[in-house]
Amino acid sequence: MQKTGLFISFEGIDGSGKSTQARLLADHLTSQGYDVVLTREPGGSEGAEEIRALVLKGDPDRWSAETEILLFTAARRDHLERLIGPALAEDKIVICDRFADSTRLYQGLSRGHLRGIVDQLHNLMIGREPDLTFLIDMHPETSLQRALDRQGDEERFETFGADLQRRMRQGFLDLANEFAGRFRVIDGSHPIKDVAKAVSHVLSDELQRRNVSS
Ligand code: ADP
Ligand code: TYD
Repeated sequence: MQKTGLFISFEGIDGSGKSTQARLLADHLTSQGYDVVLTREPGGSEGAEEIRALVLKGDPDRWSAETEILLFTAARRDHLERLIGPALAEDKIVICDRFADSTRLYQGLSRGHLRGIVDQLHNLMIGREPDLTFLIDMHPETSLQRALDRQGDEERFETFGADLQRRMRQGFLDLANEFAGRFRVIDGSHPIKDVAKAVSHVLSDELQRRNVSS
């Protein structure tokens, strides 16, 4: 058995259950003796959390789509340098709630056709994809309601309504096809514990396939 770092991301529309499932998977793996780092984007490091506040609070039209791409990528670069990279180098399992696929969709698709710019900047400044990405696929109306029910002060795409959520859902499914090697699509419409079972099943297979031990 080898012990190597594994980089896992969770993606999906707002309110799909990503954060819940990322936390449950982290708890599950920790209880099995794995060394796990649970983190999120935008954020995850001190500087990136400051950028998070800049992009998620206040007027949604504060930044142009191009400036948002720069801000999310700057946050990601800091996160990678200070937390994700070092943790992987120490053979930990990193579980990240959203990563670059979110920028591909939210900045690349929702506010124009900027996917090319997102990918160019990603290649230049990040140059790394997760080893495994769980897409928690959910009905847009349900997830939008869940997201709105949380009523935090970090509103962003929730406020743009159901139509955008529908386009985002399809966009994520298209990304899952584009990067079929690392994406695993999970049906998020079941009760929390059933979704968690589906996620940990896929992960056990993956750990076995990669011959990774705790
Ligand atoms: P996301 O991180 O994708 O925005 P969260 O994990 O924060 O989503 O979940 C949004 C809300 O929906 C939370 O209140 C959470 O408790 C609830 N929730 C998550 N998964 C489910 C599920 N499978 N069934 C019902 N409610 C859920
Ligand atoms: P998150 O905290 O994951 O929100 P939620 O729990 O509602 O899914 O992300 C906050 C918002 O940031 C979300 O609306 C998606 C957006 N976002 C981008 O627009 N681009 C990005 O690169 C990332 C990581 C997130």
